[in-house]
Formats: sequence, C-alpha cells, structure tokens
Amino acid sequence: MQIKMNKGKMIIPDNPTIPFIEGDGIGKEITTQVQKILDSAIEKSYSGTKKIDWLEVLAGEKAFTEVGTWLPAQTIDAFRNHFIGIKGPLTTPVGEGIRSLNVALRQELDLYVCLRPVRWFRGVATPLLHPEKVNVTIFRENTEDIYAGIEWAAGTSESKKVLDFLQNEMGVKNIRFPNSSSFGIKPVSREGTERLVRSAIEYAIENQLPSVTLVHKGNIMKFTEGGFKKWGYDLAEREFSDNTFTEHRFNQIKVEKGLNKAVEMYNHAIESGKVFIKDVIADAFLQNTLLKPEEYSVIATLNLNGDYISDQLAAMVGGIGIAPGANINYLSGHAIFEATHGTAPDIVGKNLANPCSLLLSGVMMLNYIEWYEPAKLITSSLEKLFKNGYATSDLARFMEDGKPLSTSEFSSKVIEYL
Ligand code: NAI
Repeated sequence: MQIKMNKGKMIIPDNPTIPFIEGDGIGKEITTQVQKILDSAIEKSYSGTKKIDWLEVLAGEKAFTEVGTWLPAQTIDAFRNHFIGIKGPLTTPVGEGIRSLNVALRQELDLYVCLRPVRWFRGVATPLLHPEKVNVTIFRENTEDIYAGIEWAAGTSESKKVLDFLQNEMGVKNIRFPNSSSFGIKPVSREGTERLVRSAIEYAIENQLPSVTLVHKGNIMKFTEGGFKKWGYDLAEREFSDNTFTEHRFNQIKVEKGLNKAVEMYNHAIESGKVFIKDVIADAFLQNTLLKPEEYSVIATLNLNGDYISDQLAAMVGGIGIAPGANINYLSGHAIFEATHGTAPDIVGKNLANPCSLLLSGVMMLNYIEWYEPAKLITSSLEKLFKNGYATSDLARFMEDGKPLSTSEFSSKVIEYL
C-alpha cells in the first residue's frame, strides 16, 4: 500500500510499498542481502503484522540496458508517489550532458538534507584512541553553495562575460590572474539555510540531543557562510526559543550582564533540557572533532563543508566503507536512503562486498517510518558481530581478532544474531 501524507504527517500502512534501486556493480549483491535482513528483522519484530512490499525501479546501467535511459521518469515518479525509497550505488555515466544520477534524484525531489549519522561500532579498527566518544548526526545542505554547479571554464566566452561584468560593473579589482581564471558562483540563501537548520534543530529536540553546531567559514565568506550562521541563530531564537539556548544569546548576555550571569543562564537552560545552539569555524571544527569529539552532537552545515566533514568523521570511526546516508526533504516527507560508497568495480561478483552501508541506511529508513523495533534488532546484531570480530574482509583484515566472511555469510550471521 502507498504511504500517504496528511497535513504534514506521514501515514505508514502496515505493508508500505517501498521502491528500491538495486544499483550497479556490487549493488545486486548487497541489495538482495539487505532486503533479506530487513525482512527478517521486521518479521521477528512484528510476527507478520507488518511487512515491506518491495517495488523494484530502474536506474543506472540496468535501466540503460533494459529501457535505454539512465534514469527513467517512472523511477522518479515512483519515489515521488511512494515518498521513500532505498538505493544501491550507481555508476556515474561518462559523457557530456549526463548528470550524476544521484544528483539528479536529489534535485528532482528537492531533497535538501543529506543526513549522515556517525557512530563507532566496538571492534571496528579506527585511528582514534577514544572512538566511542564520536556520536554525531550531520545535516549537510544539499541544494546550494558552490555545489550548485554554476561555473564557467577559463578561456570561454562565458567566463570573459563574467569577468567583464565583475570588473566593469561591480568594480572588482582583486582577481589575480583574470585572463586564465575559471569562475564559480556560491549561492547561499536565507530560505535554504532556514529549512536545513530547522530540520537539524527539530531532530535534536525530538531525539533529546544536547546541541546543534552550525559549522561555517563565515570569517572569510561573510555573506554566504556568515549568512548561514546568522540566519541559523536568528531562526533558533525566533522559532525555537522555548527549546533552545544559543551561544549568540550567551554572548549578548555576557556583554549586557557579565560572564557570571551568562554562565548562570546557560546552566539553567541546559538543566531544563534546552538544546544548545552554537557555531564553529569549519577548520577549527575539523581539529576539534579529533581532539574533543564529545563536544558535538548534531551538525548543521553547508554543502561543501558537509562533504569534507562527512568523510572525515566516518573515517574517524573506521566506517568510511560502512557509513549510511539519506537524502531527505522533511517538508514534503520525501526521502531516499542510500549506500554512500560507489559500485566497487574491482570486487564485483566476488561475494566480497560489505553490505553495511546500505544495511545501516535501511536502519535509518526503518527509524524514519518509526518502525523502531527491527531497527534496534539489526543495530544490536551488528554490535555483537563486530565485537566478536565477524565482518566482511574489508573490515575484518584490520580488526584485532578479525574473522573475514563473504557478503552472504556475513548477512546470514546478521540474521542469525537478530
Ligand atoms: P568505490 O566506492 O566504488 O570504490 C572505492 C574502493 O572501496 C574500492 O577499492 C572498492 O572495492 C571499495 N569498496 C567500496 N564499497 C565497498 C563495499 N561495500 N565493500 C567492500 N569494499 C568496498 O569508488 P570509485 O571506485 O571511485 O567509484 C566507482 C563508481 O561508483 C564510479 O562510477 C562512481 O561514480 C560511482 N560512485 C557512486 C556513488 C553512489 O552511487 N552513491 C558514490 C561514489 C561513487
């Protein structure tokens, strides 16, 4: 049955239809196993009263082979009509005029949040002494910033026009090598910032998390990244004053009434369960995550910063290959959960692929539709497996007591440990 939206609230039937894209390369191997695990956990939790009705939709090489197009309109329609879906990795087609399929899907459904939870699983090898202190959820803005793709290559007539406009109409004088420069535009809007930061704050409040940190480079890019910080604080103070206390307000009180009063009001806010909204410059943030990761909980950041941050934090918990992700529009409800790695052409067909990135994305999907029991079962099964050294070889070879398993063996073990 179809998931429906009613006055901004998602109505989930007991047997929701969920479209899935199998994915290219290792996609087939991991998707089949992940569906089996999700189905088993749901069956174990609800004894047959709830069940996902999987609907395959085409994208990538499989779509190109079967219907002659990389991303058929029916696939986008299916995600639009059914609200949520899950996808394996897709080959980025090579050639002029063909967009990344992942980017195309995000744009078509205006999935403005790239959500990346990062935590450590005991047993997984990591470069940190205390990886257990890392537990963050990244809200990366997905539609704006320098990633909007507004660029002109050096030497083209377009870039000459842009140069002419900048120099002659805008009075720009500091382009160091004007004639060989390419140009890119970085749009960052108040609306774009607000919907992202609002989602992050609502998530922190709902999940009773201690803080939301706005990560930015507003010290250098005053109006774009600095705008993000300012609009983020304004939004928190305007819409969430009952549930949050901001660092911005803390600093104001410090000036108005002195440090002691500011600390007193901070302590009072935290004791009464308010979420602390703070900000940090992106480079300091990257240092701090290594030195004192326990200071961060929910992160709200722009597109480019978010790209770097997601990979660094995933690497810190040894999980770059198993990090889950989702692209979400919290306003319309649309969400696509996805493996964050690529198609791994070097290990296709060898039964070596690690299914955990897609599996943990499936866990995010279960949480999103509020099927918490099976989500918990899978997570604790993985916790037990990793603790005992069971993993696919990409992880097992770095584990102290690693016992490498194939994709299918590992997946069977996840089901056994549910
Ligand atoms: P990749 O992530 O496919 O592979 C990089 C390395 O990680 C390889 O050695 C691979 O064997 C390993 N690896 C990746 N996933 C693994 C898994 N689940 N288990 C075990 N090992 C794994 O990145 P690459 O080679 O740069 O890209 C290959 C293709 O995938 C390209 O067409 C690229 O555009 C696409 N891609 C798609 C993404 C997506 O759909 N979200 C993301 C990244 C790349």
